[in-house]
Amino acid sequence: MKTPVKPALEESGDAMTRRRVLSWLSGFGLFGSLIITALSNLIFIKPRATYGQPNRFSIGKPEDFPPGARVSLDTRRVCIVRDGDKVAAISTTCTHLGCIISVSETGFSCPCHGSRYDQDGNVTGGPAPRALPWFQVSLAPNGEIEVDKDTEIEAGNYLRV
Ligand code: FES
Repeated sequence: MKTPVKPALEESGDAMTRRRVLSWLSGFGLFGSLIITALSNLIFIKPRATYGQPNRFSIGKPEDFPPGARVSLDTRRVCIVRDGDKVAAISTTCTHLGCIISVSETGFSCPCHGSRYDQDGNVTGGPAPRALPWFQVSLAPNGEIEVDKDTEIEAGNYLRV
């Protein structure tokens, strides 16, 4: 007894359909994996975390700094100076090699190599090559003082509060 044989054209048509489906599925899978790889690489290249502190920050209300106050905020590396009704922010990063300087009776002093600065941050001794920078200070809408360490201003420019 002979089994009926399908015509060659029909067999070929089934095979093509199966081949097309498998080819489409593998192509879709490959394309999808390429997209996912590209997206994950983009996410990896652009970090979501920032590791430094922001250079613009609030330091509190003007009344937190009584007249005559010279408050060093070591974590921010800035000294807030209140002179009467005026406020300023002076860098506390030594211009020699970057140590954190401290407030002294005569101005500022660096514990690393002995640089000394006057009350306005001008160099009075030691290896420091230049004066301490002053930073832009402004009043935020909520009444707090904001320091912008990205904007250096001329020494002696205070903000009236
Ligand atoms: S880092 Fe301040 S004097 Fe050298």
